[in-house]
Amino acid sequence: MKKIVIHKAGSFDQLKIEEHPDLTPASDEIKVAICAIGINYADVIIRWGLYDSARKFVGWPITPGFEFSGTVAAIGKDAKGFEVGQKVFGLSLFNGYATEICVKADMLYPLPKNMTLEQAAGFPAVYMTAYHALLQLVIVRPTDKAIVHSAAGGVGSALLQLCRIKGIETAGVVGSSHKVQRAKELGATYVIDKSTQDLWPAIQKLYPAGPDVIFDANGGESLQKGWDALARGGKMISYGTHTILPKESGHINYLKLALGWLNAPRFNSLNMNQRSIITFNLSFMFDKKDLLNEAMTDLIAWLEAGDIEPIAVTTYAFTDVAQAHKDLQSGNTMGKLVLVV
Ligand SMILES: NC(=O)c1ccc[n+]([C@@H]2O[C@H](COP(=O)([O-])OP(=O)(O)OC[C@H]3O[C@@H](n4cnc5c(N)ncnc54)[C@H](OP(=O)(O)O)[C@@H]3O)[C@@H](O)[C@H]2O)c1
Repeated sequence: MKKIVIHKAGSFDQLKIEEHPDLTPASDEIKVAICAIGINYADVIIRWGLYDSARKFVGWPITPGFEFSGTVAAIGKDAKGFEVGQKVFGLSLFNGYATEICVKADMLYPLPKNMTLEQAAGFPAVYMTAYHALLQLVIVRPTDKAIVHSAAGGVGSALLQLCRIKGIETAGVVGSSHKVQRAKELGATYVIDKSTQDLWPAIQKLYPAGPDVIFDANGGESLQKGWDALARGGKMISYGTHTILPKESGHINYLKLALGWLNAPRFNSLNMNQRSIITFNLSFMFDKKDLLNEAMTDLIAWLEAGDIEPIAVTTYAFTDVAQAHKDLQSGNTMGKLVLVV
């Protein structure tokens, strides 16, 4: 088998394609011959050595990859629910950047009829993130007005669609003009293009009393201003911090990182003023099977009913993983990037 291994923190050249012995599933595992792999911004942070759960659960070397699709290749003697040759997609706490993987059956799902293997590989991580943020962490009401940052990206595309099926008005924020149309198609009620508009006056004009919910993975650039803009009783869902990370360079700018860290807003009960801040990282939640199953059951049902769509994918050859990281890091991509084996 082949897998992509990172031996130490660094730039795109740290993504090494290596030959390793083929896997044999444990008695409770299913082995999948991987066809496609979803790339997440988190994988870029793992490559930089800054991803908390990767450091805590694995260290170096590490094979990133939270999601994959493919064909069942072998079944452990006690594993149930799947057949050899069946098309599946699934989740894994790392190790997805490979030509094969062994996982427990409860991390695997049959491929729905209306999804290709490439789309399936890009489905679970962003939709589960959006589902957890919107439907498991806060109670939203149909009258709520939500701001969705990076609205044409992976998680942003999922959030816009879930807000649409819950009937919540959204202002999607995008960083460049080529993303405006995509955000509209995904259901954004309004789209704010940060490259041509001043963000905060635009939000103030749309929502004079402030937005009720903000989904923010920008961190540094917008967390404090978003907090200040929230309506009374509003909720800030902070789930990332990409604006203190580099867009072009493969290497971390540690000065920018340190300044971003120092300038990050600090929250305590004396300055909350009837607003809430909620943070989470899904990679620490893989053992919360009840939450995971609830999310995947609803998401697959909505997908099969046509209420949500697979996220649009851009495919890359397995060997072009460095280019895929470079493109995702640039901030110019839309939807999901997927490696094809
Ligand atoms: N907490 C969790 O459990 C969890 C789970 C999944 C994802 N996330 C986070 O959610 C965010 C989105 O992840 P994704 O995989 O779906 O990626 P994505 O949204 O497809 O791509 C990231 C987007 O963020 C913006 N961006 C990237 N780098 C930037 C920079 N240096 N400065 C300013 N803007 C930048 C760009 O959009 P615009 O320019 O249009 O804003 C870019 O398209 C990431 O921050 C990721 O770490 C968190």
